This record gives sequence, C-alpha cells and structure tokens, in this order.
Amino acid sequence: MCGIVGYIGYQAAVPILFNGLRRLEYRGYDSAGFAVLNSHGLKIRKRPGKISQLKDLLNDTALTGTIGIGHTRWATHGEPNQVNAHPHTDCSGRLALVHNGIIENYSALRKDLIAKGHVFKSETDTETLCHLFEEYIKTGCSLEAAVRKGLGQVVGTYGLVVISADEPDCIIAARKGSPLVIGHGKNEYLIASDTAPLIAHTSDVTFLDDGEVAILHNGSVVVKSIDDRIVEKCVEVVDTDISQIEKGGYAHFMLKEIMEQPQTLMDTMRGRLLMEEGTARLGGIQKDIDSLLFARRLVLTACGTSWHAGLIGEYMFEELVGIPVEVEYASEFRYRDPILGSDSVVIAISQSGETADTLAAIREAKRKRSKVFGICNVVGSSIARETDAGVYLHAGPEIGVASTKAFTSQVLVLSIMTLLLGRVRTLSSIRGREIVQEIKRIPEKVSQVLENREQVKAIAEEYKDMRNFLYLGRGYNFPVALEGALKLKEISYIHAEGYPAAEMKHGPIALIDKAMPVVFIATQDSVYDKILSNIEEVKARQGRVIAIATEGDAEIQKLADNVIYVPKTIEMLNPLVTIIPLQLLAYYIAVFRKCDIDQPRNLAKSVTVE
Ligand code: G6P
Repeated sequence: MCGIVGYIGYQAAVPILFNGLRRLEYRGYDSAGFAVLNSHGLKIRKRPGKISQLKDLLNDTALTGTIGIGHTRWATHGEPNQVNAHPHTDCSGRLALVHNGIIENYSALRKDLIAKGHVFKSETDTETLCHLFEEYIKTGCSLEAAVRKGLGQVVGTYGLVVISADEPDCIIAARKGSPLVIGHGKNEYLIASDTAPLIAHTSDVTFLDDGEVAILHNGSVVVKSIDDRIVEKCVEVVDTDISQIEKGGYAHFMLKEIMEQPQTLMDTMRGRLLMEEGTARLGGIQKDIDSLLFARRLVLTACGTSWHAGLIGEYMFEELVGIPVEVEYASEFRYRDPILGSDSVVIAISQSGETADTLAAIREAKRKRSKVFGICNVVGSSIARETDAGVYLHAGPEIGVASTKAFTSQVLVLSIMTLLLGRVRTLSSIRGREIVQEIKRIPEKVSQVLENREQVKAIAEEYKDMRNFLYLGRGYNFPVALEGALKLKEISYIHAEGYPAAEMKHGPIALIDKAMPVVFIATQDSVYDKILSNIEEVKARQGRVIAIATEGDAEIQKLADNVIYVPKTIEMLNPLVTIIPLQLLAYYIAVFRKCDIDQPRNLAKSVTVE
C-alpha cells in the first residue's frame, strides 16, 4: 500500500527519493511521484504506473535540490492517473504533500474549502489536506503550526509529509494510524513509511507515534504533540542489513523468501526451545503467561495469510493446551461487537504489524478489557507496540506481496506457544521432548521439500493453463488448503478455492471434471483414510488429482495423477512441510503465466486502510 520517502540534507534528493521508492515497491502501488525544493521553488513530477517511469528524471537538471518528498500511491479515492498521484499541492502551488491513510471527513472539509474559494485539481481525499493547511498559512501560521492546527480538524488516518517553498529548510511530518519512521544520518535525515528506504543510509531510527508531528531541519529533528508540546523520543538501532531486502540472485523476492525458509525457521526457533525440560521459553510473553494459561478462551484474530496461520493455531491450542479457541477475521471482529472480557485473551497475528483491520481489532479488544498478545514480524511496528505482550517471528523482512516465510514462522511460533502452554497444562515431559525434537528437525525437512522444486515446476507447467483449482485438506491440513489456494489466486490470477475435504460433497463436487484439478493434502495422519476416500470420489468423476503425500506412501501413486512427497513429521507440524510445495506450485504457475509475481495486480503487502 502507499509508500512515503522524504529527504533533507546535503546530497541530491532525487536519486535518494527514487531509490527509496524502489525499496517501497513491494508494498504495492499504481502511481508514483516526487517533489523537490530548490532555488527556483517547488518542482513536482508524478506519473501513473511503475517507478521506472520516473527514471529519466534522475538526469533532469531542473530537479536539483537537497530537500524532497516522494510517494507511491495505491488508489483509494480516484483512479490511478497523473492528477491523482501524489505529491498534491495547494492553490498557491507552493506547498507539496504526500499522504498514506484515509481522510474520512474529506468530503465535508472539501465542501467547506471550496466555499472559501479553493480550487481542487484531483479526486483524492489527500488534496483536502493541502488546502486545509493553506488556509492556516494564509492567517500567518508557520507550516508546522498550520499542519498541527489543520490536523485538529481531520478525522481519519494519516502518515503525511509536507514541504513548502516558503520554508525551504524544513520537512514537516505527522502520524496517526499510518506509520512513519525517521532515519538519522550525518547532517541528513530521511523519513519513510517503513525502514526499507532508510537502511542504505543509516540504522539509527526514530519511530513516530500516533498524534506526533516531526519537524526536520538540516541538522535537527524536533518531535511535538499535535497540541504543541515537545515529545522526547529515543533513537533505536534497526539490525536489518541491506542484503535482506535485496533479491540475492533470485528472479523474484517470493522465490528468495520461499527458499530462505529453512533459515528463517531456524531464526524463529533460536534460543526458544528447551530440550531437557521438553518445553520452550518466549521472553516476550513470560511475565504475562498466566493470563494465557488461565484464559477461559483464546481469540486469534488476523487477516489473509496470517488468519490461516491462526486457524492452525486453533487446532494446536485446542488439541494440546486444552483451551477453547476462536479464530476471527479482524475485519469482522472489529465491527460485530464480540463478547469478550477479562477472561478472554486475544492474540493478533500479523506479518507487517500494520494491517488496519488487525490494529482496530486490537483496540476493540482492549476497550473490552481483554489482554492482547501479538505475533508479528516487523520489529517496532504498530501492532508490536500496541499489544500488551508478544512474540516476534524474526523471519527478516518479507518483500514479496504473497506471504510465504512469515506464514511458516507464524505457524512455528504458534507451535512453540502450544508447547510452552501445553507443558504447564496437559503435556508430559516425554511428549514435550518429542515435540521439541520434531520442531528442531523441521528446517531440514523443509530443505528436502525445496530440493524437489524441479518436480513441482514440471507439474506447474502441466497445469499452468487451467482456469480453476480446488484445494482440499483435513485437520491441520485444512488451513493449508486455504493458504495454498490463496497463494495461487494472489499471484497467478487463477481462481482457486480451499475447502475441508469432506465438505466437497456439499457443493464443490458439482464442479469436478477434467478441467478442474484438485490438490489434495493427503499426508499419513489421523485422517488419512478419510482423505483417500475423498480422492476416490474425485477420480470417479474424471477429476485430475495432485497429491501432497508422505514420503514412502506407495498407495497414493495408484490414485493421484501427480504426487509430491514431503517428509513425515508429527501431525501438528505437518503444515510446515505441506505448505512448501503449494508455495512453489503457485510460484511456478505464475512464472509460466508471466505474471508480476512480487507485485501482483491490485494487491498490497501491507493493507493500512480498511
Ligand atoms: C495483505 C497481504 C497478505 C497478508 C495480509 C495480512 O493482504 O497481501 O499477504 O497476509 O495483508 O497482513 P499482515 O501483515 O497483517 O500479516
């Protein structure tokens, strides 16, 4: 979703903005632009389409200047064209602004501003902010005061950055509900919507909090509250290194991230498993663990892939910890007045830590006096900061829009939490040690599946022209079916549906014919025999079956058209190996269909609006 970069310092701003926007491409966008200040005033360039469309501007001598702001827009109000792209300006054309988020009362504000004589050029909610601030500037306010006062009238969410030709030595930024982080360089500062554009310049950062306004000068940063009180902020060090946000020789970030999983899973479990005692240690939840152990029920809430991880968590917690669990889409949870209270514990799961619906669900849960835990990947993200306690994934930056390594790390964290809680409530030390041992073997098993990727690629080629897919699984592999189907539709634009295998008889079976391949996740576990019957039912109707099966299972060869084997593991950990071939299948099908894998159409990596 929209991205922001700003620069103030001694270097040419345009290349820094351009490269910064490149680092934000992964978030998903449909137009881009930037503005620089120089002795001739404010220069703005913006275009629909990819950032590469702006490349020629790197050599544009009219765009010299050491202060500037840049933006990638993901359209909400108004189609993705040049006029609606950011930066936006006021009537004077002396102020330029970029904005992430949504101004909910923009329509009323716009009407009022038009009545006062302002002329709007775009259909965006963002442009309203420019004219609103201009109104205060006309009364003699500085840019900073205009921003603070103007925002007092705004309902909605924003991460915004603004510059003015009348104050060419500063950048003003403000945050409410949409992240901004300042990078501290030597005699230069950057500001961006996440740390990716900053890393090449500095690892010293300051995260703005909601309700804060930052004033960046060449040589100083001041942070204030919206009502003009100075806020003391600390400088934190981010430990991401640049190689983590580059492709490292892979054709796509998604493939790199799929291939990284043996390592990211190691990173997720590092220092957390206690073999001797057959349990685990999770520093981030240790002091609040009683509220989990004595909860009447757990509510896991998330969106997209993270929601699928939550479903697996439900199976694990109920089976091995013995606490009732519900899994809720955050978008539903936030509006449907859920019955919570101090004996319900909410666990929010998110890769980015910025998903608007998940954040709103957390706030709703807190309002209802529930303790809220977070499981997220991005350190310092809003969800990490707003939850009472939590566990980081330590999977490293995930750039590909289709989530892969974050999913497996989420499932792994949930299994480690299950082990920790289960050992207090129901599990023996012997059972605990078995689980620890099996968790430790997972990275090696994932590597084995990855080594087999040429076979998956060949299957992908065979099926690449299909228009529909069905994914079926049972038990722990039912959420894997949902996630496999989601991966395929996200990046290949093929319609795919995931179902619990037995539900097939209640509808989807009507669709089965030669043109409807069915992917069965059919590992040898407690529901294996049942799933074999489901495969038979598909074959009886001429369906084509791709089976994900346990190594050594010769039986399934007789039924399925294609079999992809995965190593055996314990049932609760099955999703960690069975999802790998499905990630690869989706990836290779999308490659054969020549799709834009890392930036699939209409999708955003981090959905920061409702
Ligand atoms: C978007 C992304 C998905 C992701 C979902 C939830 O839809 O494209 O990959 O699963 O948001 O994001 P989160 O960061 O909260 O896990």
